[in-house]
Order: sequence, then structure tokens, then C-alpha cells
Amino acid sequence: MSTDAPWQQFFVSTDLAGLEQLNVATLQTVESLLSTGDAPRSSLLPADLHAAVGRLEVCPEDGAALAQVLDEFGSIVWANGVVPGDPRCVAHLHPPTLLPAVVTELAIAATNQSMDSWDQAPAATEVELHLMSWLAAALGFGPDGTGVMTSGGTASNVLGMTLARAAAANRLGVDVGKSGLPPESRTWRILCSDQAHFSIQRAAAQLGLGRDAVVTVSTTPAGAMDLDALDEKLAALGHDGLVPLAIVGTAGTTDLGVIDPLEGLAERAEQHGTWFHVDAAVAGSFILSTKLAARLTGIERANSVTIDFHKLWWQPFNASALVVASEDAFDLLRVRSAYLDRGDELEGMVNLVGRSLDTSRRFDAAKVMASLRTVGRKNLGAMVERCVALASYAGELIARTSGLDLVAVPTGVMCVFDAPGHSAEDLRRVQQHLLACGEMVLGRTEIHGRAALKFTFMNPSTTEVAIDGLVEKILETLVLVAN
Ligand SMILES: Cc1ncc(COP(=O)(O)O)c(C=O)c1O
Repeated sequence: MSTDAPWQQFFVSTDLAGLEQLNVATLQTVESLLSTGDAPRSSLLPADLHAAVGRLEVCPEDGAALAQVLDEFGSIVWANGVVPGDPRCVAHLHPPTLLPAVVTELAIAATNQSMDSWDQAPAATEVELHLMSWLAAALGFGPDGTGVMTSGGTASNVLGMTLARAAAANRLGVDVGKSGLPPESRTWRILCSDQAHFSIQRAAAQLGLGRDAVVTVSTTPAGAMDLDALDEKLAALGHDGLVPLAIVGTAGTTDLGVIDPLEGLAERAEQHGTWFHVDAAVAGSFILSTKLAARLTGIERANSVTIDFHKLWWQPFNASALVVASEDAFDLLRVRSAYLDRGDELEGMVNLVGRSLDTSRRFDAAKVMASLRTVGRKNLGAMVERCVALASYAGELIARTSGLDLVAVPTGVMCVFDAPGHSAEDLRRVQQHLLACGEMVLGRTEIHGRAALKFTFMNPSTTEVAIDGLVEKILETLVLVAN
């Protein structure tokens, strides 16, 4: 075969000068999404955006020059995205990203290690295992604590519930992975608070238990699971012949950022001999802060914990993990395959496919580890504390602003509020107006049936002055939509 085939130019090579040029060109095209000056998003209307993207030919017969493709992406795609680092981009748990992670992303893509088997990712497997051991230890797990990287908090929660279901079946002497659900599974229930993430319901649906198997426990006005209400639910289950499959605590609810009483939950899980899962997608990084870590006490007693690196650890998507007390928890997932995970490998050649719901999988652990090593625990802890302080500042400001009312005093990185005298429809119009004109990407939600607006502070560089500006803008827009 000819060595100068035209496609050779498209593969990554060691032409570093070429790569460097491309990197600079790429960064120039995303400048609009990195700069926090103008607006958190362009004001292009959905239909215009649809048309602009539609005009891009997906696969031209002869290909287009990379410089042109990068340029088009710059002017059409990146210029019309959202700017996660902008102080007015406050709707979601959507962070600006850390430089060490971003540059490591290039190495991840260029080298393409696949995490399913040791023969595709020898050193990468060691890195992921090393990172998981560190994370388990940081959460307070024993020496056998370990885990696996997943694509997100949803995937980690589904995996956690999958392991919980296997453990419940094991207690009956059934291998659910082999024989499927036993008849007793009709009695299995997952308990979580009424503020838990919807992925717990989705997990129940996917696992053949059905969403009705999720029993929601009421929360205190602050938004944490009410332990008395949990005790009542557990007693009622016992009375009805139903069995708790798992107790799920949330460490950092999606809207209010509240942490459930994890110690109390751990106690109940132990008393009932059930799986204890903690969804710490939001507040897991509190372990990095000497001030905030104590709020997670009890998490070390969990059987599984969800950690989302692509939230308050400032990683690019995707980067999440499920941490477990011991590798045995993954037993259910292991299916031997002649081509991949044969079971006859040399000592130490671990095939991570035996821990994951995925087969081929990215080496996302690399960017996480590069970031943790570069930024360091102290800086990361201070960054988490700063985001929490920003939410407190916003809470105090809203509490003294006439025309706005706090739904709950912020304890995490969110601040949820409404506007007395204004309807849910007014709040919808405020949020939609600000999004459409590109002035603010504001959160909107509902807490216990009460419509509300929401700030989520993911950028520790945001200033108090910027928050003053957000509140002023909302007051102005409320007047505008009411007229
Ligand atoms: C508490 C909680 N758990 C899980 C998730 C899902 O995470 P992901 O979007 O990474 O799937 C979220 C998302 O916001 C969340 O807030």
C-alpha cells in the first residue's frame, strides 16, 4: 500500500509543530465561549440556530480544509453556545473547566486508551484504579475501597442501584445476573427523599422494579430527608410485607444543595440489613474542604457513592465515578468473553470491563488525576468554599430585597427564590426572556409545588458585584414581564 495515501494526514502524528498550530487555532475559535465579557449566550433565535447548523454539509465528498471547518465551528457553533464560566450562567451544575483537564483531554483523545481491558490500557488501568483508591480513602472507606469511572451521575446512580439489586437477590441465594429477578423482587422498595435526583426513579424503571418501587420520604423545610418520616416509611413497609432494597441518601440535592442526615441513614440501612447508597454528585467535593468535609459524616458507611467530577471538581464532561467498599460489589457485572475478559490473564492484568456497564470507555481518569495533582487539595477546597460563600451572599441579598423571597437559606452552591405577588407563569417568562435575549442563563424549578428561580454558583471567580447585577436584572425583568 502507498505510504502517501491522502488519508494519512488525518491521523494524529508526532508533528508537534502542526499540533501546536492546530491547538492555537482551535482555542482561537472557542474564544467566544471562554471569554466572560459579553453575554452568557448569543441572542440567536432557535430557528436561526437550526438553520445555521443545517447549512453545514455533514460529510462533503472530498472533505473541507480543517482550518475552514474549525473556523465554521467557531462562528456558527461555539459563538452560539453557552459560556459556563460567565457569572450570568447560573442555571445548572455546569462548570467552567480546569486547564490541566482541558489539555489532558487532547492526550486522551490522541492516544485513545480503552478502559475495558488491560491490553488496551495498561498504564491507564493503573491510573484509574489509583484514582479510585484515593477517592475511596478520601471518602473514609476502608483499605478495600475502590470504584469505577462512569459517564455521569445518572450512570453512577443506575450502577449503584444495579449493585444494590444484586445484593438483595444474593441475600435470597439468587444470582440475579444469571437467573433474573426472583418473584420476591415484587416486594423490593428503594427509599430516597422527595428531593432525590430523578435518576433513582430511572434506575428502578431500568432494573425491572418499576418507578413505583421508589418510595419517597418527605423532607424538612430546609430540604433534608426527615428521619422520623423515614422511620415511618420503613415501619409501613415492614407492616405490608415489603422489603427495603436500598436507602439512598443525597449529599447535595439538585435544587437546594442540601445534604441528608447520612449518619442516621447509615444506621437505618444497617438495622434493616439493606444497601446504603449516597448520591454525592453535587456535594462530594466537600471532602476537599477542611471546613465542609464534616457535613458528609456517615458517607464512609455507604455501600456505594456517586461522585461527579464534572460538577464541583471542574472537569469537562464526562467524568463521574461510583465508589464501593470492596471490589466484590462488582461481581454481578462480570461476564467472561473469549475475546476480551478471558480470566486467564497474568497476575495484575485487570480488565475494568468487569466493573462497568460500558465496554469501550474513555480514559477520563487521566484528566481528573492531572487536575487534582496540578491544582492541589488546598486550592480545590478553597474553590468549593468560595462557591458556597457566593450562594450564601446571594441568599442574604435576596432575603433583604423587597420583591424577592428565599425558598430556603442556602447551604450549598444554589440559591432558590421566588417573587411574592408573581405567578409561576411570570417566573417562567422571566427565565425564558433572559435566556432568549442571551442576558442570563437562569435556573427555574419547583420546590414542594412552589415555583421558583434558581442560581447555581459553579465559578469560584464570580464576584459579589456580579451577583448584585443578577438580582437587579431579575427585578427589572419581573417588571417587564408583568406589563
Ligand atoms: C444529585 C444529583 N444526582 C445525579 C445527577 C445526575 O448527574 P449527571 O448529569 O452527571 O448524570 C444530578 C444532576 O444534576 C444531581 O443533581
